[in-house]
Amino acid sequence: MSTATTTRFGRFADRLRDIGPSPIRAIFDKAAVLEAAGEKVYHFEIGRPDFDTPQVAKDAAAASLDRGEVHYGPNAGTMDLRQAISGYLQERRGTGYDPGTEVLVTIGANEAVFLALMAFCGPGDEVIFPVPAWAHYESCIRLAGATPVPVRLDADNDYRLDIDAIAAAITPVTRMVILCTPNNPTGGVATAEEIERLASVLERTDALLMSDEIYADLVYDEIRHQSPAAVGNLRERTLVIGGFAKAFAMDGWRLGWLAGPKELITPALRVRQYTTVCAPTFLQPGAAAALRHAGPEAEAMRMQFQERRKAGLKILTGVPGVTVSQPDGAFYFYLTYTPETAEPAEQLALRLLEEQRVAVVPGTAFDPDGGTHSIRISYACHIDDLTEGLRRIVQTLTTPHPKGA
Ligand SMILES: Cc1ncc(COP(=O)(O)O)c(C=O)c1O
Repeated sequence: MSTATTTRFGRFADRLRDIGPSPIRAIFDKAAVLEAAGEKVYHFEIGRPDFDTPQVAKDAAAASLDRGEVHYGPNAGTMDLRQAISGYLQERRGTGYDPGTEVLVTIGANEAVFLALMAFCGPGDEVIFPVPAWAHYESCIRLAGATPVPVRLDADNDYRLDIDAIAAAITPVTRMVILCTPNNPTGGVATAEEIERLASVLERTDALLMSDEIYADLVYDEIRHQSPAAVGNLRERTLVIGGFAKAFAMDGWRLGWLAGPKELITPALRVRQYTTVCAPTFLQPGAAAALRHAGPEAEAMRMQFQERRKAGLKILTGVPGVTVSQPDGAFYFYLTYTPETAEPAEQLALRLLEEQRVAVVPGTAFDPDGGTHSIRISYACHIDDLTEGLRRIVQTLTTPHPKGA
């Protein structure tokens, strides 16, 4: 990807050379124009819950503001929130972290990814990540000056983790492997056996593991999330990423965490000291309250996602030329279609918006080369909108179109 690199005042920094605007920008912009003109748009492009934040979290943040907790806090986050995160990880994932030295409260999971890469990866280092993948990894790897090494997962194998392919991509300069489970965009959830195999591959290297578990609480039916940090010896080399945005509908709060052994958290904390300094002080009691007390609300939201997922799968299953990857977790359907079914994804996404008023993300946003005939649909929207929007997508995919394949 190459973009303009100069301004009236000279060139951009080299680190921005290969970082372009988000590939979903065109969809966002077009949807905004339609909505400004009074049109209803079915928003399946947004990766955020449509629910409100649990009241207990709002109340705790408001009370903190009222108490005047408006000043800088500790770089790593308030001790109370670090304790809440530590307790939550112990209870839900089976991995304990010392709140004093092994937990860092971040500005969303986004900052956790950034801090981890800035702390450990730089020029000459390679970072492996399976694709399709959340696009931020590649951009943040580039911002850190390191080299992204995407490992393409096989659509015919339902985008399952390919440990042999990851092992084959490892070189003496592999600094980190990134795993996202449950996965954005495929909804795939890594099994304990897959993670054990990854552990035995990593054991022979000095590579770190970044485990992005932002969707860990959103798994469905009988599926259980397995935290890599709780498998074998992986904990010692794993940086766990988590947050409040998805399971607690707190995306606008911009809070998350990075957890790991002290020797991995300390360098990340050093980057934080010179960037964002600390997460907003008065929001942290709200986040702690969510972890401690909003379990029932989070579970109610999960149940609604589960219901939407079921309704959506009913509509999408069996459409000729279309495969939906098994959505065991997160809140996305990742559709892959044959080239005979419709045009490439970026054009299809524009046509869906123009003709059907449905906004989706083209697969190229997650895999520029392999995602040309895939789209991601977020089902974090009302079930009525979901079923109507999916019906429109199916109609488009099953109707021959003039532009051809
Ligand atoms: C896989 C993944 N990791 C991290 C994030 C970032 O989450 P946050 O809003 O907490 O920064 C997202 C957001 O979409 C995501 O999909």
